[in-house]
Amino acid sequence: MLTGGNAWWRNAVVYQVYVRSFCDSNGAGTGDIAGVRSKLDYLRRLGVDALWFNPWYPSPMADSGYDVSDYRSIDPSFGTLADAELLISEANAVGIRTIVDIVPNHVSAEHSWFRAALGSAPGSAERARFWFRPGSGPSGDLPPNGWQSLFGGPAWTRTKNSDGSSGEWYLHLFAPEQPDLNWTHPDVWREHEDVLRFWFDRGVAGFRIDSAALLVKDPGLAEERTGRLPGEHPFTDRDSVHDVYRQWRQLADSYPEPRVLIGEVWLPDASRLARYLRPDELHTVFNFPFLSCPWDGPALRTSIDATLGSHELVGAPATWVLSNHDVTRVVTRYGRADTSFSFESRRAGLDTDLQLGTRRARAAALLTMALPGSMYIYQGEELGLPEVDDIPDDRRQDPMFFRSGHLNPGRDGCRVPLPWSGEEPPYGFSPPGASRRPWLDQPRGWGPLTAAAESANPDSMLTLYRQGLELRKAEAGLAGEALVWVPAAPKVLAFSRGKTFACAVNLGTQATSLPIGAEVLLASDPIEGGQLAPDTAVWLRTSDGV
Ligand code: NOJ
Repeated sequence: MLTGGNAWWRNAVVYQVYVRSFCDSNGAGTGDIAGVRSKLDYLRRLGVDALWFNPWYPSPMADSGYDVSDYRSIDPSFGTLADAELLISEANAVGIRTIVDIVPNHVSAEHSWFRAALGSAPGSAERARFWFRPGSGPSGDLPPNGWQSLFGGPAWTRTKNSDGSSGEWYLHLFAPEQPDLNWTHPDVWREHEDVLRFWFDRGVAGFRIDSAALLVKDPGLAEERTGRLPGEHPFTDRDSVHDVYRQWRQLADSYPEPRVLIGEVWLPDASRLARYLRPDELHTVFNFPFLSCPWDGPALRTSIDATLGSHELVGAPATWVLSNHDVTRVVTRYGRADTSFSFESRRAGLDTDLQLGTRRARAAALLTMALPGSMYIYQGEELGLPEVDDIPDDRRQDPMFFRSGHLNPGRDGCRVPLPWSGEEPPYGFSPPGASRRPWLDQPRGWGPLTAAAESANPDSMLTLYRQGLELRKAEAGLAGEALVWVPAAPKVLAFSRGKTFACAVNLGTQATSLPIGAEVLLASDPIEGGQLAPDTAVWLRTSDGV
């Protein structure tokens, strides 16, 4: 059973645009929608099917746009609603769909609902849309419970009454500027459906749903503790969150060209994750277990098998993701002693071999492009940009950095503005004569990593991505959804897709022989003497598998 038959999203290439860092058209130091429009040809040439935009709505930017103050408009630093409409139609005209981000777990503290709640009394209708509670302890000066914010520190902040005295506390699973909505309130349901319609009616092809497993909370505010059964955590993956997505799916399906729902669901348990993909819920979810997996043959094979197995049961396609705006850049991660990703282990100043990391990232790109399902490319991944590790503390912006007491460098290092051309910052990110420097400084030495330099370099990461994506469309084997593992040397992952296509990745330390007679379609590094070198991937045309 497959959901959506051969619908476009089942094997789409989706490019993630972090607008703030993509291209600055007016010299203000931040990327904007006009900048994206000016690069549509670059994106078309890269070969992507859809763009996913991180939140572009009006926001005080306490969490880089994930604190939304108005879901029906565009932040003035990015442009106007008319600019967004123009972008959606221009992208459509060159065959590229648009996906936007919806942030349903929380709003900005500047959102009209939260301002009204703060200006209203405890127990008021305005406060009922959020999680306001009296404090605990004899004088209420302790948080209502011990829940911790995912950015560090308590998940509760105390309010002030109009007379200056201390008031109730409100819940925020992220920063205090991001109060959590109460999903038992009918206004919250109605409002979100209306926002979905607003953007669907403007031609967006789908939504990426932020923090999709967190919406529903235990009304009794039970403490977090280990050993709970699935579905019993007080604020993650509670069973009734699925009611929300069943309703959204009906809405998405009510359009003549049905729209797509993509969940940001960080759950280690593959079977719990698959529940979001039941045929009447979300279409796809990001594959974070794969993203977090170390550069290790058996671990990757286990991750791929677990993904395909759990998705097949619900008829949903897998997604393959190497990076996004929250995680360490791939070439950096793969160049370190610990090649896995976790938020907790993120540290600045770790030893990194960028040459090795880049070699592995090239191999990982071909692996990812050859797997059945859809894939995501985070802007700059196609250029092989490294994490910027040495941002001075006074330039950092991420609340994760501040709320971890500066222990965790946060996510600014993967959000540095893209280099487009030239030898010096801002590398064409801003136009000549720009009035402001980019919102995060780009390092010196990125000249060879600009889109212009890489376009002209047959051995660049960009050229590899372009060639890979072109072949991914052209190869008949890659159109199907079957993957068959074929016997290979230890630490080599080898699989066929269809009768005439195979991919092999060498994760060992010894070169391994390629099958005699197989034609090399593409390799992540040169193939010499019929040998697949360590940390190299190859695509082969075969007569009957490898
Ligand atoms: C997940 C987003 O990807 C991240 O950037 C954001 O900080 C949190 N959700 C909170 O919205």
